[in-house]
Amino acid sequence: MSMAIRIHQTGGADVLKWEDRDVGSPAPGEVKIRHAAVGLNFIDVYMRTGLYPVTDFPFTLGMEGSGVVEAVGDGVDGFSVGERVAYPMNPGAYAEERVVPAARVVKIPDGISDNEAAAMMLKGMTAQYLLRRTYRVQPGDNILLYAAAGGVGLILSQWAKHLGATVIGCVGSEEKGALAKANGCDHTILYRDENVAERVRDLTNGEGVAVAYDSIGKATLESSLDSLKPFGTFVTFGNASGPITDFNPGVLAAKGSLYLTRPTLATHTATRDLLEDSANELFDVVSGGHVKINIGQTYALSDTAKAHEDLEGRRTTGSTVLLP
Ligand SMILES: NC(=O)c1ccc[n+]([C@@H]2O[C@H](COP(=O)([O-])OP(=O)(O)OC[C@H]3O[C@@H](n4cnc5c(N)ncnc54)[C@H](OP(=O)(O)O)[C@@H]3O)[C@@H](O)[C@H]2O)c1
Repeated sequence: MSMAIRIHQTGGADVLKWEDRDVGSPAPGEVKIRHAAVGLNFIDVYMRTGLYPVTDFPFTLGMEGSGVVEAVGDGVDGFSVGERVAYPMNPGAYAEERVVPAARVVKIPDGISDNEAAAMMLKGMTAQYLLRRTYRVQPGDNILLYAAAGGVGLILSQWAKHLGATVIGCVGSEEKGALAKANGCDHTILYRDENVAERVRDLTNGEGVAVAYDSIGKATLESSLDSLKPFGTFVTFGNASGPITDFNPGVLAAKGSLYLTRPTLATHTATRDLLEDSANELFDVVSGGHVKINIGQTYALSDTAKAHEDLEGRRTTGSTVLLP
């Protein structure tokens, strides 16, 4: 038996329960991992609240973790007991131990710690596909992003800067602005107080940005569209303020033949090739010192409810790691 944080229904942070359960042995094609660290992500909140459907209760939340292979199922090639591994986007991470398909796991390179791996797989691979696949950032591009001091935000800002972009980051407070500027943002906007589109026009000589990476959703839809230059790309990839529901595509024409996409890491890691390509690019920029993984806070895994409350309350910065 080993402990996990499970939910028996969707709801507030109080539905997160610390419980004993039987993990069992890995099935064919699976590995069993003892977690060293577990990553906290905003998608965990969407699943806990039911915004993203969960139907199979009791359900172990958590999408990202790092640890050591404890056992290997039949037919698994390339992983052995004792190896350090990590993964993004696999429900069931809020646990001391778990089984997971070997095809979803990668080895952690030397020089990257277990905590860093748990803090960077999901958020960093998201940054990778946003910057390198969804809209391929070019040197000299002006780009806009939100929650610049958050988990994805700090990685996205550093990586975009490394690619040669001028990075405009929206932040919720002065303190977060200072952190974002120390991590790749050339300019910051206090988006709860300032007019984002006006500031963006000022900062770009009236031109607008080539791409807006928007993880906030409902609250920032307009400011993102109004900040883009003609033919610019609006990437809406999160719902921190709530999902965008009604949308009229005619707006894209009126605002300058804009492009809109709503991507997810699930598609961008759906095959082994996509997963490895993304993980390898991430490991390269981190190992090369171009992107530093900022762990803003850690919690005991048993205290995950508090971590959820802080993430939802906008009190965290950088990545959050839960320790079994
Ligand atoms: N589509 C994908 O593939 C994908 C993958 C990973 C993450 N995401 C999205 O990326 C975003 C960032 O994820 P993360 O885990 O790194 O979280 P995070 O950015 O560390 O935390 C969320 C931040 O969003 C901002 N925010 C704005 N309005 C908010 C509200 N009403 N409630 C709570 N926070 C609000 C806050 O920053 P300020 O105080 O600066 O406003 C808060 O700190 C999330 O929207 C997530 O869903 C999408």
